[in-house]
Amino acid sequence: MLRPPVLALPSFALLPLALLVGCSSLPSAEKQAAMADEARKTAGGLIQTLGGELKAALTAGGPAEAISVCKARAPQIAAAAAQKSGMQIKRVSPRNRNPKAVPDAWESEALAALEKRLAAGEKPETLDTYAVVDTPDGKAFRYAKALVTQPVCVTCHGPAETLAEGIKAKLAVEYPNDKAVGYVPGMIRGVLSMKKPL
Ligand code: HEC
Repeated sequence: MLRPPVLALPSFALLPLALLVGCSSLPSAEKQAAMADEARKTAGGLIQTLGGELKAALTAGGPAEAISVCKARAPQIAAAAAQKSGMQIKRVSPRNRNPKAVPDAWESEALAALEKRLAAGEKPETLDTYAVVDTPDGKAFRYAKALVTQPVCVTCHGPAETLAEGIKAKLAVEYPNDKAVGYVPGMIRGVLSMKKPL
Protein backbone atom coordinates (compact mmCIF):
# COMPACT_ATOMS: atom_id res chain seq x y z
CA MET A 1 0.00 0.00 0.00
CA LEU A 2 2.99 2.35 0.46
CA ARG A 3 3.81 4.72 -2.39
CA PRO A 4 7.41 4.99 -3.66
CA PRO A 5 8.23 8.38 -2.06
CA VAL A 6 7.41 6.93 1.34
CA LEU A 7 9.77 4.06 0.65
CA ALA A 8 12.58 6.59 0.37
CA LEU A 9 12.28 7.22 4.10
CA PRO A 10 14.74 5.39 6.35
CA SER A 11 13.28 2.10 7.50
CA PHE A 12 12.98 3.12 11.15
CA ALA A 13 10.57 5.87 10.04
CA LEU A 14 8.34 3.30 8.40
CA LEU A 15 7.92 1.18 11.46
CA PRO A 16 5.46 3.44 13.35
CA LEU A 17 3.52 3.86 10.13
CA ALA A 18 3.31 0.11 9.63
CA LEU A 19 2.16 -0.34 13.22
CA LEU A 20 -0.48 2.33 12.77
CA VAL A 21 -1.83 0.74 9.61
CA GLY A 22 -1.79 -2.68 11.27
CA CYS A 23 -3.67 -1.46 14.32
CA SER A 24 -6.40 0.41 12.53
CA SER A 25 -7.59 -2.50 10.42
CA LEU A 26 -10.32 -4.76 11.76
CA PRO A 27 -10.03 -8.51 11.22
CA SER A 28 -12.30 -9.57 8.36
CA ALA A 29 -15.77 -10.91 9.12
CA GLU A 30 -14.52 -14.40 8.16
CA LYS A 31 -11.58 -14.14 10.54
CA GLN A 32 -13.84 -12.99 13.36
CA ALA A 33 -16.26 -15.86 12.66
CA ALA A 34 -13.32 -18.30 12.78
CA MET A 35 -12.21 -16.87 16.14
CA ALA A 36 -15.78 -17.22 17.41
CA ASP A 37 -15.80 -20.87 16.33
CA GLU A 38 -12.58 -21.45 18.28
CA ALA A 39 -14.08 -19.72 21.32
CA ARG A 40 -17.26 -21.81 21.01
CA LYS A 41 -15.23 -25.03 21.00
CA THR A 42 -13.24 -23.93 24.04
CA ALA A 43 -16.46 -22.88 25.84
CA GLY A 44 -18.15 -26.19 25.03
CA GLY A 45 -15.22 -28.21 26.37
CA LEU A 46 -14.99 -26.15 29.52
CA ILE A 47 -18.72 -26.35 30.28
CA GLN A 48 -18.69 -30.11 29.73
CA THR A 49 -15.68 -30.66 31.99
CA LEU A 50 -17.05 -28.46 34.77
CA GLY A 51 -20.55 -29.95 34.48
CA GLY A 52 -19.12 -33.48 34.67
CA GLU A 53 -17.07 -32.73 37.78
CA LEU A 54 -20.01 -30.95 39.38
CA LYS A 55 -22.35 -33.89 38.87
CA ALA A 56 -19.72 -36.36 40.08
CA ALA A 57 -19.09 -34.30 43.22
CA LEU A 58 -22.84 -33.93 43.89
CA THR A 59 -23.24 -37.70 43.68
CA ALA A 60 -20.10 -38.65 45.59
CA GLY A 61 -19.78 -36.06 48.32
CA GLY A 62 -23.08 -34.22 48.33
CA PRO A 63 -23.84 -30.58 47.57
CA ALA A 64 -21.51 -29.06 50.17
CA GLU A 65 -18.63 -31.00 48.62
CA ALA A 66 -19.65 -29.78 45.17
CA ILE A 67 -19.33 -26.17 46.31
CA SER A 68 -15.60 -26.79 46.50
CA VAL A 69 -15.67 -27.94 42.87
CA CYS A 70 -17.23 -24.63 41.88
CA LYS A 71 -14.86 -22.66 44.02
CA ALA A 72 -11.55 -24.36 43.34
CA ARG A 73 -11.99 -26.39 40.16
CA ALA A 74 -13.86 -23.85 38.02
CA PRO A 75 -10.91 -21.41 37.98
CA GLN A 76 -8.45 -24.28 37.41
CA ILE A 77 -10.46 -25.68 34.50
CA ALA A 78 -10.76 -22.17 33.06
CA ALA A 79 -7.02 -21.58 33.48
CA ALA A 80 -6.20 -24.81 31.63
CA ALA A 81 -8.56 -23.90 28.79
CA ALA A 82 -7.09 -20.39 28.72
CA GLN A 83 -3.58 -21.71 28.36
CA LYS A 84 -4.60 -24.04 25.57
CA SER A 85 -6.59 -21.45 23.63
CA GLY A 86 -4.60 -18.27 24.32
CA MET A 87 -7.79 -16.61 25.58
CA GLN A 88 -8.49 -14.98 28.93
CA ILE A 89 -11.51 -16.80 30.36
CA LYS A 90 -13.83 -16.01 33.28
CA ARG A 91 -17.41 -16.39 34.47
CA VAL A 92 -19.28 -13.26 35.44
CA SER A 93 -22.79 -12.31 36.54
CA PRO A 94 -24.59 -9.14 37.59
CA ARG A 95 -25.85 -11.21 40.56
CA ASN A 96 -22.46 -12.61 41.39
CA ARG A 97 -21.48 -15.10 44.09
CA ASN A 98 -17.71 -14.69 43.74
CA PRO A 99 -17.08 -11.02 44.67
CA LYS A 100 -14.68 -10.73 41.70
CA ALA A 101 -17.14 -12.06 39.12
CA VAL A 102 -18.53 -8.63 38.23
CA PRO A 103 -19.23 -8.00 34.53
CA ASP A 104 -17.45 -5.14 32.77
CA ALA A 105 -19.24 -2.77 30.36
CA TRP A 106 -18.91 -5.03 27.32
CA GLU A 107 -20.03 -8.12 29.26
CA SER A 108 -23.08 -6.25 30.63
CA GLU A 109 -24.10 -5.20 27.12
CA ALA A 110 -23.53 -8.71 25.79
CA LEU A 111 -25.65 -10.17 28.58
CA ALA A 112 -28.49 -7.70 27.91
CA ALA A 113 -28.46 -8.66 24.21
CA LEU A 114 -28.46 -12.38 25.09
CA GLU A 115 -31.38 -11.88 27.52
CA LYS A 116 -33.38 -10.29 24.70
CA ARG A 117 -32.59 -13.14 22.31
CA LEU A 118 -33.62 -15.69 24.95
CA ALA A 119 -36.88 -13.82 25.54
CA ALA A 120 -37.44 -13.81 21.77
CA GLY A 121 -37.35 -17.60 21.79
CA GLU A 122 -33.76 -18.46 20.84
CA LYS A 123 -32.45 -21.80 22.14
CA PRO A 124 -30.16 -21.54 25.21
CA GLU A 125 -27.46 -23.63 23.48
CA THR A 126 -26.81 -21.06 20.76
CA LEU A 127 -26.91 -17.97 22.95
CA ASP A 128 -23.52 -16.37 22.36
CA THR A 129 -22.13 -13.19 20.89
CA TYR A 130 -18.77 -11.72 19.89
CA ALA A 131 -17.08 -8.53 18.77
CA VAL A 132 -13.74 -6.87 18.15
CA VAL A 133 -13.39 -3.97 20.56
CA ASP A 134 -10.91 -1.18 21.28
CA THR A 135 -9.07 -1.43 24.58
CA PRO A 136 -6.39 0.86 26.04
CA ASP A 137 -3.85 -1.74 24.81
CA GLY A 138 -5.23 -2.08 21.28
CA LYS A 139 -7.90 -4.21 19.74
CA ALA A 140 -9.23 -7.35 21.37
CA PHE A 141 -11.57 -10.14 20.33
CA ARG A 142 -14.33 -10.67 22.87
CA TYR A 143 -16.77 -13.55 23.18
CA ALA A 144 -19.63 -14.20 25.62
CA LYS A 145 -21.72 -17.33 26.03
CA ALA A 146 -24.87 -17.38 28.14
CA LEU A 147 -24.79 -19.90 31.00
CA VAL A 148 -28.42 -20.84 31.32
CA THR A 149 -29.70 -22.27 34.61
CA GLN A 150 -30.44 -26.00 34.41
CA PRO A 151 -32.22 -28.12 37.01
CA VAL A 152 -28.88 -29.18 38.58
CA CYS A 153 -27.87 -25.54 39.08
CA VAL A 154 -30.76 -24.70 41.42
CA THR A 155 -29.22 -26.97 44.05
CA CYS A 156 -26.95 -24.01 44.78
CA HIS A 157 -28.48 -21.08 42.86
CA GLY A 158 -32.20 -21.67 43.42
CA PRO A 159 -34.52 -19.58 45.60
CA ALA A 160 -32.95 -19.21 49.08
CA GLU A 161 -35.87 -20.91 50.81
CA THR A 162 -35.44 -24.03 48.68
CA LEU A 163 -31.72 -24.55 49.36
CA ALA A 164 -30.68 -27.44 51.60
CA GLU A 165 -29.47 -26.38 55.03
CA GLY A 166 -25.95 -27.71 54.40
CA ILE A 167 -25.65 -25.62 51.23
CA LYS A 168 -27.05 -22.51 52.87
CA ALA A 169 -24.65 -22.83 55.79
CA LYS A 170 -21.60 -23.32 53.60
CA LEU A 171 -22.54 -20.48 51.25
CA ALA A 172 -23.08 -18.14 54.21
CA VAL A 173 -19.55 -18.84 55.43
CA GLU A 174 -17.76 -18.81 52.07
CA TYR A 175 -19.78 -16.09 50.31
CA PRO A 176 -21.25 -13.64 52.81
CA ASN A 177 -22.22 -11.23 50.01
CA ASP A 178 -23.75 -13.89 47.75
CA LYS A 179 -26.23 -12.52 45.20
CA ALA A 180 -26.45 -15.70 43.10
CA VAL A 181 -29.63 -17.24 44.49
CA GLY A 182 -33.24 -17.00 43.35
CA TYR A 183 -32.70 -18.60 39.92
CA VAL A 184 -35.04 -21.07 38.26
CA PRO A 185 -34.25 -23.28 35.24
CA GLY A 186 -34.21 -21.29 32.00
CA MET A 187 -32.84 -18.05 33.47
CA ILE A 188 -29.41 -16.82 32.40
CA ARG A 189 -27.17 -17.32 35.42
CA GLY A 190 -24.20 -15.45 33.94
CA VAL A 191 -21.83 -15.47 31.00
CA LEU A 192 -18.68 -17.32 30.14
CA SER A 193 -16.50 -14.48 28.91
CA MET A 194 -13.41 -14.82 26.73
CA LYS A 195 -10.97 -12.20 25.55
CA LYS A 196 -7.98 -12.32 23.25
CA PRO A 197 -5.76 -9.31 22.57
CA LEU A 198 -5.20 -8.97 18.80
C1 HEC B 1 -22.69 -27.27 44.32
C2 HEC B 1 -23.16 -25.93 44.20
C3 HEC B 1 -23.25 -25.32 42.82
C4 HEC B 1 -23.92 -25.82 41.74
C5 HEC B 1 -24.67 -27.11 41.62
C6 HEC B 1 -23.74 -24.83 40.69
N1 HEC B 1 -23.01 -23.77 41.14
FE1 HEC B 1 -22.53 -22.09 40.12
N2 HEC B 1 -21.41 -21.45 41.66
C7 HEC B 1 -21.27 -22.11 42.87
C8 HEC B 1 -20.25 -21.45 43.65
C9 HEC B 1 -19.75 -21.87 45.02
C10 HEC B 1 -19.79 -20.37 42.85
C11 HEC B 1 -18.70 -19.38 43.21
C12 HEC B 1 -17.38 -19.93 42.65
C13 HEC B 1 -16.22 -19.01 42.87
O1 HEC B 1 -15.84 -18.80 44.04
O2 HEC B 1 -15.69 -18.51 41.88
C14 HEC B 1 -20.54 -20.40 41.62
C15 HEC B 1 -20.36 -19.51 40.61
C16 HEC B 1 -21.02 -19.54 39.40
C17 HEC B 1 -20.85 -18.57 38.34
C18 HEC B 1 -19.85 -17.42 38.31
C19 HEC B 1 -20.46 -16.10 38.65
C20 HEC B 1 -20.71 -15.91 40.12
O3 HEC B 1 -21.89 -15.76 40.47
O4 HEC B 1 -19.75 -15.94 40.92
C21 HEC B 1 -21.70 -18.94 37.34
C22 HEC B 1 -21.90 -18.23 36.02
C23 HEC B 1 -22.37 -20.15 37.78
N3 HEC B 1 -21.94 -20.47 39.05
C24 HEC B 1 -23.27 -20.84 37.02
C25 HEC B 1 -23.76 -22.10 37.36
C26 HEC B 1 -24.56 -22.91 36.48
C27 HEC B 1 -25.01 -22.50 35.07
C28 HEC B 1 -24.81 -24.09 37.13
C29 HEC B 1 -25.51 -25.30 36.60
C30 HEC B 1 -24.98 -25.89 35.40
C31 HEC B 1 -24.18 -23.98 38.44
N4 HEC B 1 -23.56 -22.77 38.54
C32 HEC B 1 -24.25 -24.96 39.42
C33 HEC B 1 -21.96 -23.22 43.28
C34 HEC B 1 -22.69 -24.04 42.44
